[in-house]
Amino acid sequence: MNITEVLQIVDQLVLKHTGKHLNDLQKNVIVGIWQSQTYQEIAHNFGYESENHIGNVSRNLYEILAKELGETVNKSNFCWSIERLANSFYSSQIFGIAINSNFNSCPNNHHQKSEFNNQEKSEEKKPYYNLKQAPRLMKYYGRNKEIKVLSQQLKNPNLNLISVLGITGIGKTNLVRNLVQINQESFDLIVWKNLKFGQSLNSIIREISEIKKSGISEIPDFCSFFDILTDKKCLIILDSFEEIFTPQELAGNYKTEYQDYKKFLQMITEIEHQSCIILISQEKCQEMTSLNSQFSYCLELSGLNESANKILKQHTLKNEDRWLELINLYEGNPQFLQDISLFIKDIFNGNVEKFLQENCLVLTEEMIFVFNSIWLKLSEIERLILLEICYHHDFISIDDIQENLAFSLMELGRGIKSLNQRYLLILKEGDPRLFNLTSVLKEFVKNKGKLLPIKPI
Ligand SMILES: Nc1ncnc2c1ncn2[C@@H]1O[C@H](COP(=O)(O)OP(=O)(O)OP(=O)(O)O)[C@@H](O)[C@H]1O
Ligand SMILES: [Mg+2]
Repeated sequence: MNITEVLQIVDQLVLKHTGKHLNDLQKNVIVGIWQSQTYQEIAHNFGYESENHIGNVSRNLYEILAKELGETVNKSNFCWSIERLANSFYSSQIFGIAINSNFNSCPNNHHQKSEFNNQEKSEEKKPYYNLKQAPRLMKYYGRNKEIKVLSQQLKNPNLNLISVLGITGIGKTNLVRNLVQINQESFDLIVWKNLKFGQSLNSIIREISEIKKSGISEIPDFCSFFDILTDKKCLIILDSFEEIFTPQELAGNYKTEYQDYKKFLQMITEIEHQSCIILISQEKCQEMTSLNSQFSYCLELSGLNESANKILKQHTLKNEDRWLELINLYEGNPQFLQDISLFIKDIFNGNVEKFLQENCLVLTEEMIFVFNSIWLKLSEIERLILLEICYHHDFISIDDIQENLAFSLMELGRGIKSLNQRYLLILKEGDPRLFNLTSVLKEFVKNKGKLLPIKPI
């Protein structure tokens, strides 16, 4: 069972008992209990002040469930009670919740058959969630502001396109996964697609058309698809969007076979409808910051601040007074902090002070792996610019680069813009004409430079 199914079941029971759907706090509490978190951890993870309050909310939920199920429900048997309920035929029939693995209908039973037909008739009205390609719901620290802003944007009826952008590991997918969890009830249909699986736009349109029984066409029929986006409130998440851009070219150029996404994104903010597309990408393209800016919103994620302490705490690192230095060194990137925490645990027995005394920035195998795949996607000019910048300690300008690289200002300008679209540069505050690399990327590029047979011109 996944957490969406758990929430659906509890929601139906609570709705039956109180006439109201679960609120955000109750949902967060259920997610926490399902993940075997203590009340203190739940309060901590979801940014609530008091664990007592979480305890009270949980007890209230147990009481409702106990009355509905006619048996005692408490923290220790909560998961088991819900799983058992889900596994029973009763849940599928009474709540109309599709629990595929254990659904076992009996075709000779007329009563059950008519229930089933009714269920089919009401299928159209039931929300449809396909989160099979979504990652597991994981804990998140900080990001409350981002969740709040994005939740508001999702409620804005005029907002049709949201882009969540940033460098690898910064927490884009995690953020959107949690955002979807919190807001799922506002949508009739939610589909999560990861473009790492090479999903064509045609196949997404086909899936949604099939669900909504709006006819399937051989050629992707944008027109009838937009009818669905107008009739229903749909949320379509396209994760790893950078996968459909051409490698070894400047950022944001669609691969030939994915050109239809470009047209689709342009239409999404041009045509009036009530649905929303969320793009998650390491790479920015023109359509994300379209001229129709009132219909689109772009969130560029930066690193976590002190909230990243909780990642280090999770890995039981020592020397808490030095944690902020470690967080800054790895730019508050949750993925890098997880990787380096494991490294420090293994090699330095969790001693952050000893690690920092070494005075060097360690790139773990995982970091090298992800930066290598980014490196492979860069165009020649971008690689040369990075190799040029990496030996500069201070911020530099395009003119500084031109001194050593035989390219026109126009060509260098395009290269720098492209690196910026990939979130690989840091721009100087107050003077965006000056830029440099983040320390982790700089270390990677320096190592890359040492391995290259020919020095840049
Ligand atoms: N706010 C957060 N608190 C704790 N852990 C986080 C947070 N954000 C992300 N993580 C963890 O960091 C890792 C990377 O996050 P995520 O996969 O969301 O990054 P991403 O930006 O989507 O990266 P990529 O571009 O490579 O797909 C995951 O293990 C995730 O659970
Ligand atoms: Mg991701």
